[in-house]
Amino acid sequence: MAARQQETHFGYETVPLADKQGLVDDVFHSVARRYDLMNDLMSGGLHRAWKDALVTAVNLPKSDRPFALLDLAGGTGDVAFRVVEAGGPGTRVTVCDINADMLSVGAKRAVERGFDQMVTFKQGNAEELSYPDRSFDCVTIAFGIRNVPRIERALEQAHRVLKIGGRFLCLEFSSVDVPGLAALYELYSFNVIPRVGEAVTGDREAYQYLVESIRKFPKPQAFAKLIEQAGFRRVSFTPMTGGVVALHSGWRL
Ligand SMILES: C[S@@+](CC[C@H](N)C(=O)[O-])C[C@H]1O[C@@H](n2cnc3c(N)ncnc32)[C@H](O)[C@@H]1O
Repeated sequence: MAARQQETHFGYETVPLADKQGLVDDVFHSVARRYDLMNDLMSGGLHRAWKDALVTAVNLPKSDRPFALLDLAGGTGDVAFRVVEAGGPGTRVTVCDINADMLSVGAKRAVERGFDQMVTFKQGNAEELSYPDRSFDCVTIAFGIRNVPRIERALEQAHRVLKIGGRFLCLEFSSVDVPGLAALYELYSFNVIPRVGEAVTGDREAYQYLVESIRKFPKPQAFAKLIEQAGFRRVSFTPMTGGVVALHSGWRL
């Protein structure tokens, strides 16, 4: 008897696990050039505050002490730029993303902003990192983990490349837990976001996927369990904006 193919979700669709990455890659190839503009439009600028909260949690040294941060699924470098702006002269960021189009937008922007000596852009899959064990002081991932087909593998890899005493921080859309806000958020997500996405990027389906993938992502308690199962300790999460997003944290001890 043929082995049953493993399946997963791509938004609300059930797809073979092996197909998900290709579908996700198509989404980000299509929206790369307009990705940052869309973030501002969709979140009313709120993504900036959420990312700033992530960067504050990193607790960067202000001195020239070397500090190596890996930003997984780092896309166009938005988190990386905030990190080098906030950190001391010893802060270095590696942006690892599977999508060459997202990375090339980021690399160009790094040169324009004078950050190209501090931020390195590398193509790679979060599920199979090429970095040595215990090589980073901090690993971050913002709005990336729900796009990765095998979340457990990516978490294990993040744990492997972190130094002992290093922190993993993950910003991700979460579950809105304020009744009035939940209904409003639902309406906004399904009626406004795909339309704005279509007007700005010409790709309505990419933004339909985005809102559906948010609904399919595990509840924060369940995701915290996955972080723990990957080996992290002192695992916690902080909901923000009524649960629209949550900042998850774990330590390699
Ligand atoms: C919503 S964007 C987030 C970009 C950036 N972190 C930010 O917050 O602006 C998701 C990113 O995840 C990347 N991605 C998806 N699957 C990946 C994988 N398996 N490994 C690394 N990056 C991946 C996509 O290419 C895309 O750039």
